[in-house]
Amino acid sequence: MDIRSSEFVTSSTHWEQCPETHKPEFAFIGRSNVGKSSLINMLASRKNLAKTSSTPGKTQTINHFLFNKQWYVADLPGYGYASVSKTSRYEWGKMIEQYLINRTNLYCTFVLIDARLPPQPIDLDFITWLGNQQLPLAIVLTKTDKLKQTDLAKSIAHIEAQLLQSWAELPPLFITSSVKKTGQKEILHFITHAMGK
Ligand code: GTP
Ligand code: MG
Repeated sequence: MDIRSSEFVTSSTHWEQCPETHKPEFAFIGRSNVGKSSLINMLASRKNLAKTSSTPGKTQTINHFLFNKQWYVADLPGYGYASVSKTSRYEWGKMIEQYLINRTNLYCTFVLIDARLPPQPIDLDFITWLGNQQLPLAIVLTKTDKLKQTDLAKSIAHIEAQLLQSWAELPPLFITSSVKKTGQKEILHFITHAMGK
C-alpha cells in the first residue's frame, strides 16, 4: 500500500472523545520512548506528523491520524515511565484500558518493544492483558539499527521463547528501524490485509 495522505485528526484524553468509529483503526503502544511516534512517522514517510522526543513521556494523549482518508492510526502514551506519579500511572492505565476495550473499530494493537532489551515484565503483562481481552495484537521490535545482526537474532529468539511460555501461537512479529525505514512495507502490507483489501 502506498501512503498518499496522512493527517493529524485529534487528541483525546478519553475514549469517548475519539473520532467516530466508521473507519478501521490500528493502535501503537509500548513503553515510553520505545519509538511509537517515530514508527508512525516512518509509516507515513513524514518527519513530524507525530511529535517525537528523546525525553520519555512526550505523548500524553490518544492522538489520531488519518491515513489515505481511509484508516486511523492511534498514537498512545507510553507506559512504564518511571517519573510519573502513581496516580497518573493509574489514570493512564484506566484511559488506555477503556480505549482498548471500547474502541469497536480497532483492528489490531501493535505492541512495541525495544529490540536492545529483553521484554520487561510490564510489556509481558500488557501482552497478556490484550490476549485475555481477546484483542488482536502484533509485536514490533524497534530501534534494530542499534543492534548487530547476531544480537538481533538472539533478541528475536529470546522474545519468541518468552511469549511461547504463555501462548500456544506466536503473534505476528515485525522487525523495524525508523531510522533505516526497516519494516515499513511489512507493516503496511499487514494493515492492508487486516482491512481485507
Ligand atoms: P513517548 O511518546 O514519550 O512515549 O515516546 P515514543 O514511544 O513515541 O518514542 P519517540 O518516537 O518519541 O522516540 C523516542 C526516541 O527514540 C527519539 O529520540 C527517537 O529519535 C528515538 N528513536 C525512535 N525510533 C528509533 C529507531 O528506529 N532507531 C533509533 N536509532 N532511534 C529511534
Ligand atoms: Mg510518542
